[in-house]
Amino acid sequence: MQLRDDQDLLDLMMADMRQADDLYRPTSYWAAYEKSTVPEIRALGLKDFRRRELSTLASAGATDPWLPGGVSFARRVRNWCWEHKNRTGRCATWPISLAKGIDRLLGAALPLDLPWKLTVQQLAELAAEHCRLRGELAGAKPLEDFEPSMAGNPEGVFALAGHPHTMKTLHYYLRYAACCRHVDLEQVHVCVELGCGAGRQIELLRKLYPQMVFIASDIPPQLYVAEQFLSAIFPDSVISYRDTRELGSLDELGPLDAGSIVILPTWKFPLVSALSVDLFWNAASFQEMEPHVVRNYLGIVSPVTDWVFMQELFSGKTRLSDGGATGVVEQVVLQHYVEALSEFELIDMSPAWGPLGLIVEEDVYHDSVWRRRPAGNALSGDQYAQV
Ligand SMILES: C[S@@+](CC[C@H](N)C(=O)[O-])C[C@H]1O[C@@H](n2cnc3c(N)ncnc32)[C@H](O)[C@@H]1O
Repeated sequence: MQLRDDQDLLDLMMADMRQADDLYRPTSYWAAYEKSTVPEIRALGLKDFRRRELSTLASAGATDPWLPGGVSFARRVRNWCWEHKNRTGRCATWPISLAKGIDRLLGAALPLDLPWKLTVQQLAELAAEHCRLRGELAGAKPLEDFEPSMAGNPEGVFALAGHPHTMKTLHYYLRYAACCRHVDLEQVHVCVELGCGAGRQIELLRKLYPQMVFIASDIPPQLYVAEQFLSAIFPDSVISYRDTRELGSLDELGPLDAGSIVILPTWKFPLVSALSVDLFWNAASFQEMEPHVVRNYLGIVSPVTDWVFMQELFSGKTRLSDGGATGVVEQVVLQHYVEALSEFELIDMSPAWGPLGLIVEEDVYHDSVWRRRPAGNALSGDQYAQV
């Protein structure tokens, strides 16, 4: 299945964002990605976006690449092209296709075995079993209950328990399972995700918990991809940006049916403050903003939510001053979250697992679950210092 292109919608979102307050626009890290993602979507649309080479959509969790093992000449070429693209904005993908061809020839001539005689199918089964067991321990719904959509034509698809999966779909299942260890999602009716990327987590939660109403918030062009992706899967449930862009209050949408997904741009995020939110979700997103921006978002949502789930690098992302093409100006670290969530207790902070190992970038990612303290039980300034 492919997504529908709607360039007018993308243009509308981009134009509206230009008028928004700086607090709701991309900061240093994502301003760099915007420069290549928008031209890419304008040039190629969303056809096959989940299998696209060198797409910055990958940074928003949107793609499902097949990363072959064995001879990995193509991976080195891909990394080189990626760095090159970040400097120039665009880059041809033919060197990667050529390198893949060379890999195939070398692989046919010199087949490499995986350690312990593993096969690719066994690795996929191992990953799935790991997910199943983590799900079971967490009291999550079984992996078999989740049938991921293949909209956008992902690469690296394998069959598990009768459903097509990718390592990425398993990744979103594990994140969900981490949240389930503490939060009873059957009791969640309103879930707000900020930095929803392509909407992949919402896809999973919406399929497993049809009673939930979702607020899907992000900056464009990611919000545009989320709208197109989620509309392809849940055509009758998505409330378009076209219907939210002029809202003065979310009440203007009328009573929301179970399963509704409201596409809300960041500059309308303050409207969330009038809601009663059960669960606020942010994954790999706050870490890529600046502290004052995170403080503002958490200042809006924390007074009205009962639970917060975050999966982040709590030691912070790479700084721009470290010399890379992308980076933050000032790192968002654990202390920023603790201060902004003074009315919450941090009830879990555990290393975050992907299907085949801990999730590691600059450092190990952590899953964190925060629960609102009983009224009048906020942390004092002295107590902060002890955290
Ligand atoms: C690494 S991606 C993660 C996407 C998604 N949470 C996932 O895991 O698939 C980071 C997300 O944060 C969003 N983001 C970055 N800066 C933002 C900002 N200032 N306000 C809201 N969202 C932002 C990006 O657009 C992107 O979708």
